[in-house]
Order: sequence, then C-alpha cells, then structure tokens
Amino acid sequence: MARSSSVVKASLRKQSRQLRARRSPKQFQRATTFSLPGVKGFFAAAEHPQQQENAAAPAPGYTSASDGTLAVHAGEKLRKNGMADTDSIATPIVSGTTHWFKSSDDLIAFKEGRRHSFEYGRYGNPTVSVLEEKINALERAEATLVTSSGMNAIVATLLALVPPGGHVVTTTDCYCEARAFIRERLSKMGIRSTFVDLNDIEALKAVLDQGDVTLFYTDSPTNPHLKCIDIKLVADLCHRKGTLVCIDSTLASPINQKPLTLGADIVVHSATKYIAGHHDVIAGCISGSETLIKTIRAWHQDLGGAISPDAAYMIIRGLKTMALRVETQNRTSLRMARLLENHPKIEHVYYPALKRSPWHQIAKSQMTGFGGVVSFEVASDLHGVMRFIDALEMPFIATSLGGCESLVQQPAVMSFWGKSDEEKGKNGIKDNLVRFSFGIEKFEDLRDDILQALEKI
Ligand SMILES: Cc1ncc(COP(=O)(O)O)c(C=O)c1O
Repeated sequence: MARSSSVVKASLRKQSRQLRARRSPKQFQRATTFSLPGVKGFFAAAEHPQQQENAAAPAPGYTSASDGTLAVHAGEKLRKNGMADTDSIATPIVSGTTHWFKSSDDLIAFKEGRRHSFEYGRYGNPTVSVLEEKINALERAEATLVTSSGMNAIVATLLALVPPGGHVVTTTDCYCEARAFIRERLSKMGIRSTFVDLNDIEALKAVLDQGDVTLFYTDSPTNPHLKCIDIKLVADLCHRKGTLVCIDSTLASPINQKPLTLGADIVVHSATKYIAGHHDVIAGCISGSETLIKTIRAWHQDLGGAISPDAAYMIIRGLKTMALRVETQNRTSLRMARLLENHPKIEHVYYPALKRSPWHQIAKSQMTGFGGVVSFEVASDLHGVMRFIDALEMPFIATSLGGCESLVQQPAVMSFWGKSDEEKGKNGIKDNLVRFSFGIEKFEDLRDDILQALEKI
C-alpha cells in the first residue's frame, strides 16, 4: 500500500501546479459566469456583500450565492451528486448500510461511473453526500469528505498525504492532540516532524529550504490564543518548495474564512464546533481538490472513519442556520472583547478583531468575521478566576466551542489541570486565562452576567 516517497512527492508537486492553475483569474471568470437554469435570478439577488471578499473560487455548479443561501440549499435544491428522487424538503436520513442494484448491467454501469449511486455505507451514503456538498460549496472546494470527528479528519489527512520518509512541519500552537499525534505517532512511522513558532516566518523558510517538507499543517486562528498565520504568504512559500498546505480552520468556521481561496491545498474542521453548532454531534471534514480528497478518501475508507447518516442529518440541520449563528457570535464576541479590554479587572484580551492584537492586520486581510471565541486574562490568581467562573450564571463550564450555548473554561483547570508549570508556560497558559466561547444568547444578558461575576473576585 505504501507508495515510495518520490512518487508521492511528484504527484503532490503536480497537484500544487494544478491547484495554482485552477485559481488563475481566467478560470475564476469562467466559474463565476456559470449558472443553474431557473435559479440564477434568485441566487444573484441573494448575494451577500460580505461574502464578495471570500468568493474567489465558487464551487463548480453554483452561482455566486451567499454563504447563508448555500448553507440552506447546497446539496439539496442545488444538488450535484446529493440526494436524488425526492421532493421532501428535509433531507431524508438514508440509514441503509448497503445499496442494491437492479441487475448486473446496472452494477457494471455504476462501477464504470455511468450511473451515480452508492454501494456500501463505509464508502459513501446519500445523506452524508448532501452534507459534503454543502461544506464543499461553503469552502469553495472541488471535493469534501465528512468524517466521524475532527481528529479523524486530521489523522486521515496526515496519513494519506505524508508517506514514510516524509516530513511534516507544524506550529507550536496547533491543536494539542494533533500536535501529539504528529510528534509521538508519525515519528514511529518514519515521518519526520518539525515544530516552528507560528510567528516565525524565517524559521519556516529555513525548514522549507531543506527541500524535503511534504506538508505544512497549522490552525488559524489558534486555540486558545487566537493567533493567525498569513495563509496567502505561507501557501506561496510552501508551494515554491513543492510543499502542501493544510489549515485547520475550525475556530474561524467556513463563514469567516476560506483557506482554499487564500491558497491552502486542504482545509479541515472539527465540524463538532460551528458547523454542527449545537453541542450534540461529533464530526470532522476535509476539503480540497478532487485529487487530494480522492487520496484521503481511500485512507478514510481503510480507517473506517465514516459518520453515521443520523449524525450527518443533524449537521445538515445545524448548518442551515450557521451563517446566522456565526454572524451573531462574531458580533457578541467583538462587543465583549472591546468591553473587556477596557475593564479594570482584565489584564489582557486575545481576540484578533482588536486593533491591539498582533494578528489584527493578518486576520483583517483574510477573515470576514473573527469568530465566537474570546480569551482573556483576569487580574487575579487561579482561585480568584475560579470564583469568577463559578459566579457566572449563563455559560456552562465545559470544553468545546462554536455551539448555541455559551461555554466557559479556565485552561489551567480544564485541559492543563495537573500539568507542570513548565508545560503550561510552554503553551502560554497562565492560571488567570479564561476561554469564552460565545453562543447565540442575547449580548446584554451575557454582558450583565460577566460584569456581575467580575464583581465577585
Ligand atoms: C482546532 C481544533 N481542531 C480539531 C479538533 C478535534 O475535533 P474533534 O473533537 O471533533 O475530534 C478540535 C477539538 O477541540 C479543535 O479545537
């Protein structure tokens, strides 16, 4: 099964060239003039000005409809390969694990790609396919694969794209479990890894100059410090050296950031967060070119990372309101971040929309909103911050983010409890750090709750 390093590298280089060609202005012109019969007028009228910036490479088969519209209709009314032969407005949950064929000729037509259908649930499912089309449209991708979790999406991507002998470069700030997988597990498979500081472009250039880097992988924004990387710049540097770029865009959501339009080759999400949006389903997704997703899909089938059709349906339902939810979360977070940065009991606020943030200019250039997570350091110690958290009445003390309900956590007590000061220091985790994931509750209610809890310190 393992392909030699040089074969994979050659195919990845070809892939990079194809991707660059796909994004030429001429191609873009052609893509934007495509229209679906009968819906052009409606979707042209529905265009959202905020999305103009992000509409660099519309998914094939779609007009330049807004994200809010695509989230509702892509894969359903605007179907490419999704659910066929139904006039139900709600996408049916196709629970069958296997699909039957009318005759051997019918089966052969399917095998030869002359008839679109499904064979076995681990390889694909009509309900999951609708969800894949929706995310595909939102990410302006050629292809999307939905997986059983965000971690499954990350692991499948790394295993599929980095062969033994390959080299992964990532940042010291990327999602901690992905970092652990890269450091501890990939090394046992003969894959080298290098960790660079997200802000240190010179260090990244120096590693790329070694000429053997297969994949660069990072989150943007990061968790919990909301640091951002210049995706366009990094993609350009990486592509010059034949290195693929994968961005975990979970904290942005597909509404606020579209890494593929900025030059990334792959975008992954923990769909558990903003995409599903209700703290009730675990899932992941990977979007990119047909060629790369086909390679990852083959590994995904071996790994058995299929999501259940019931979970896919819940995400489809959640996705329909994603634009509304995220716009509310963006607004609430921005207002709270501005209020907190001027509050006498707050030492520091991490939110890239703030002008004081070192990542403000980068974030402004590549995001259309800044998301629902705001982190801040309270002017108190571990126990004082615990009192603040316990005095909050509305948010749940819980990990995760991106859902309707606001969640709050103190990383020193949640993910870093029992860890050494050195480990916390390495990760920039102070005892007084709070991570808030704003939900869709009314801003004034959240504000009043936070202000009364700060009084309790
Ligand atoms: C940025 C980021 N990526 C990936 C993951 C993993 O996602 P999941 O929990 O859906 O496996 C998480 C989970 O918190 C995350 O925050």
